[in-house]
Amino acid sequence: MPRQLFVTTALPYANARSHIGHVMEYTQADIWVRFQRLMGHEVHFVCADDAHGAPIMIAAEKAGISPQDFVAQIAASRKPILDGFLISFDHWHSTDAPENHALSQAIYRELKAAGLIDIRPIEQFFDPAKGMFLPDRFIKGECPRCGAKDQYGDNCENCGAVYAPTEVKNPYSVLSGATPELRVSDHHFFRLSDPRCKDFLERWTHGVDRDGRARLQPEVLNKIKEWFTVDEEGKGGLGDWDISRDAPYFGIEIPDAPGKYFYVWLDAPVGYLASLAAHFAKTGKDMDAFLADPATEQVHFIGKDITYFHTLFWPAMLHFSGRKTPDQVYVHGFLTVKEEKMSKSRGTGIDPGRYLELGLEAEWLRYYLAAKLNDRVEDLDFNPEDFISRVNSDLVGKYINIASRISGFVHKHFAGQILPSTDAQFARIAVAEATAGEIAKDLEYRFEAFSGLPSPILMNTMRGWADGIAGFYEGREFGKAVRKIME
Ligand code: 2FM
Ligand code: ZN
Repeated sequence: MPRQLFVTTALPYANARSHIGHVMEYTQADIWVRFQRLMGHEVHFVCADDAHGAPIMIAAEKAGISPQDFVAQIAASRKPILDGFLISFDHWHSTDAPENHALSQAIYRELKAAGLIDIRPIEQFFDPAKGMFLPDRFIKGECPRCGAKDQYGDNCENCGAVYAPTEVKNPYSVLSGATPELRVSDHHFFRLSDPRCKDFLERWTHGVDRDGRARLQPEVLNKIKEWFTVDEEGKGGLGDWDISRDAPYFGIEIPDAPGKYFYVWLDAPVGYLASLAAHFAKTGKDMDAFLADPATEQVHFIGKDITYFHTLFWPAMLHFSGRKTPDQVYVHGFLTVKEEKMSKSRGTGIDPGRYLELGLEAEWLRYYLAAKLNDRVEDLDFNPEDFISRVNSDLVGKYINIASRISGFVHKHFAGQILPSTDAQFARIAVAEATAGEIAKDLEYRFEAFSGLPSPILMNTMRGWADGIAGFYEGREFGKAVRKIME
């Protein structure tokens, strides 16, 4: 049976152009998606700009344009990168689009009807000069532990302490320099501390998909266990989630709550659904029916830094609003350059736009990334010397070289056609088909995935293999697959 897949990558903030880390995630997902399409499955692969939030609003103000125009400028810079790196998204949308406003508000209403929304007053810093409440990162001051100056409102870079912005000594607003005042305002909370949420999330995070395969990677599950743990003092565990922000805020209005907006992380993942809705509107498919179909699989590719949102908040939002939850959340590590975190100021990043402008082939980078990717939450290091040597030895020295020599030979002696005629040639093809099966197994082992292939030889190989190792699973082992292809 062909599978029905809804696949996404994380929605990038629309305050910066795409960087090489995005390209790594898109490439990883794109290879997997192309593989699924090749196997004859139906895939809907979408993404969008994550348009909302205070940083984008402030950046737009600095640039002297509206947040909508600011986001549109960034959005326009995506296409050359996506096309240039051969990323085959079916649709690219924006979380500021009408579909996302409607869906986010509908989900909120459903959570409210389920008794999972609370409104309560909280005390927060307010910038009297700007007339707005300040997000933690827009407050600076002296560290309450070590006294270091100019530290952020939530943690100290000097001593590593983590604290509440209200603990900072001599705080000031990064926006205006004014001393912030504590003011009270009503906030909306998603009651994740409700026992229903805890029960659901414990089941969901430990759950398996329709093939009996763990929904989350073991490393991810371990991390989640830490988040669930309540210590002896009663600290830790799932707390309620503050999902509202006060005006002025670039976001989606909360229904029946004038001047209140959804915190960007509430409407961001809803953008996956909004993008799918827009894609289906173009193709004439019914999204509700597609998502209600038990055969549909929802797969998110994300970086490790946003695991919390995707494995706790997002499934809970979906489940308690009566929606389908993700089948798999695939978490990857960061891209480092020469074993160091990329840094703009130190100039250690690799600009994907520049890469393409220089005329470097997208396939080189795709090959390099694929050769180093696996199914674990490990960082992937880009090393320029290693990159050059792999391109030269593997792609030019081996792949292109063999292809060009064979092509000359086939044209000269066989009129440009290869048809097996001897037993030995048939045997070679059988080996190649079996290898194709092994490669498919590296990318995603599912027995029925092979029924679309015509070869009975391959079918038998796989059947025997699957019987022998019941329950064994490998997938997203891109590096292993690449090594087999190159052999
Ligand atoms: O961390 C980020 O870049 C976020 N913009 C990712 C959002 S993913 C999804 F939830 F929208
Ligand atoms: Zn400190």
